[in-house]
Amino acid sequence: MPMQRNTTEDDITAEALQRFAGTQDPRLRQIILGLIRHLHDFVKEVELTEAEWFQAIGILTEAGRMCSDKRQEFILFSDTLGVSMVVDLLSHRKPDGATESTVFGPFHRLGAPELPAGGNIAHLDKKGTPTLVSGRVLDLDGKPIAGALLDVWQAQSSGLYDSQDESLSELHMRGKFRTDAEGRYLVRTVRPVHYPIPSDGPIGRMLRATGRHPWRPAHIHFVVSAEGYEPVTTHIFDRTDEYLESDAVFAVKDSLICDFACHEKADGDAARLGIAPPYYTTQFDFRLKPAAEQGATVLDAQRRLAALGAAEG
Ligand SMILES: [Fe+2]
Repeated sequence: MPMQRNTTEDDITAEALQRFAGTQDPRLRQIILGLIRHLHDFVKEVELTEAEWFQAIGILTEAGRMCSDKRQEFILFSDTLGVSMVVDLLSHRKPDGATESTVFGPFHRLGAPELPAGGNIAHLDKKGTPTLVSGRVLDLDGKPIAGALLDVWQAQSSGLYDSQDESLSELHMRGKFRTDAEGRYLVRTVRPVHYPIPSDGPIGRMLRATGRHPWRPAHIHFVVSAEGYEPVTTHIFDRTDEYLESDAVFAVKDSLICDFACHEKADGDAARLGIAPPYYTTQFDFRLKPAAEQGATVLDAQRRLAALGAAEG
């Protein structure tokens, strides 16, 4: 007698789970079975219609078509839904004295130039207010880490990243800095501004349809890495920004908020670098924890981007 096939809503979920139950890799098995359970539950809970299902396929297709070496719509999806921060928080559950991480975001690019201490990442930005970001890279005991690498990127004072600015054909507002023997670094830039995330695609439509604003509070991105330590992907934020409480991607953590001090007279590093006042300074010390396992010291941002094929365009 042939097997009965009176499939119900519940049968189909059980059958799909069964079909994947033989997955060899235990972690893949856990992920795929969880994904199926939650996806099926989600569809049943909201009673997704065929029209809505087709709309969802259209949205994902459009998001995929928008992705290039300059645009990552899926990271924006993850960021604006709060998923990136859930992953971040799960990965860094215990406060251990190390600098807190936050979202990587969609705007990192490979190939930023290595600059000397005090090097200007904002050399083409004539409208922003000059700003010096300084501090040290330390281990958890407060010992300086010499030769640590800081990969820095930031939006221009126009609110656009270089990749969004059609008047630019080169990398801008990006640089790699090394700490000196005392673990010190010095980055010359312009004061960060708040900016809206790109809203000309499906993410923008989602934000508008749900009554959300697209703004991110002013920040500077860092990936800090050093041999023998776990790299940290993070930002520093400007304490005076009006969007700290409502960041479109949920990325603000109290420990990453900095004070930007205004100076009317050039002295110290500013005088040496020929910076005309007014200018701002801010300070932030990064604390790295020892690498959990061998090989974890590779700049993880580059690894992740390479995995996404972002180097090709
Ligand atoms: Fe950003």
